[in-house]
Amino acid sequence: MIKSKDIKRPQTLSDADPYCPENVSLFEIIYGKNLISLGGFPAIDNMFSDLNIRGLKALDLGFGLGGAAFYLVENYLMTVFGVEVYPWMVRYAHNHMPQNLARSLEFNVYNDKGELPYKAESFDLVYSKGVLNHVADKYTLFHQVNAVLKPAGLFVIADWIFPQAITDNSVPLVCETKESYEQVLKNTGFSEIEFRDDSKIFLGYAKALLKNLTEHREFIEQTYNKELFSLIRVQHEELIEKINNKQKYATRIVAKKIN
Ligand SMILES: C[S@@+](CC[C@H](N)C(=O)[O-])C[C@H]1O[C@@H](n2cnc3c(N)ncnc32)[C@H](O)[C@@H]1O
Repeated sequence: MIKSKDIKRPQTLSDADPYCPENVSLFEIIYGKNLISLGGFPAIDNMFSDLNIRGLKALDLGFGLGGAAFYLVENYLMTVFGVEVYPWMVRYAHNHMPQNLARSLEFNVYNDKGELPYKAESFDLVYSKGVLNHVADKYTLFHQVNAVLKPAGLFVIADWIFPQAITDNSVPLVCETKESYEQVLKNTGFSEIEFRDDSKIFLGYAKALLKNLTEHREFIEQTYNKELFSLIRVQHEELIEKINNKQKYATRIVAKKIN
């Protein structure tokens, strides 16, 4: 969400990319320990609330700092691999994983060809939280996700979807509709595609984030800058407005690999 190019006088914040190591303490303040997306650990439970994921071998697509993977290994006895675009995140997650869980966790970047670095039919589950609105070419990625899933494996996504395809330059992320998501999943070998509207729950998460943000105002303004604090506040106020006006929907998607 945070686009550092909008910040007038960045200090420690990289001008090019918000996903840099200097922003870890900011992410952890606003999202929670080892997390970079809305809702903290309750949002991870919510993502899988009606699914039996205990003990599964999973791939976290876009693991960020690794917090969701750590949580799922600890609380659902899973084995979790994670893939990211940033080598520093691989090092970060590796260095911060709880040592008692280390045997059940592994983090990687994509291979030299930009593909998922796993053998076919490796995972029971691939999940992705708050990531896919960064990915324009979903066809290529979902095709690879399908290949690394075992037959009847599940692809579980938490993402924003929009009522119609919009070309709005003020919206920096890729805006999918329910139809465009459904189409790309069908075209890459998935069936039994289910959409669940979690907007009400995410409204609560966004309000909690704003409260938490205010409590940490001094730290953020001193460590980063005042403009950044205001930017994050405005972004989340706008998010609340858009959810209330049904201009975007927090959506949980489940799709099954066709056997
Ligand atoms: C909003 S953060 C979410 C991180 C993590 N899933 C979480 O909930 O804490 C988005 C993440 O997606 C990653 N990302 C963007 N494009 C990606 C891609 N094509 N494959 C894997 N990760 C990607 C970014 O590097 C970033 O860490």
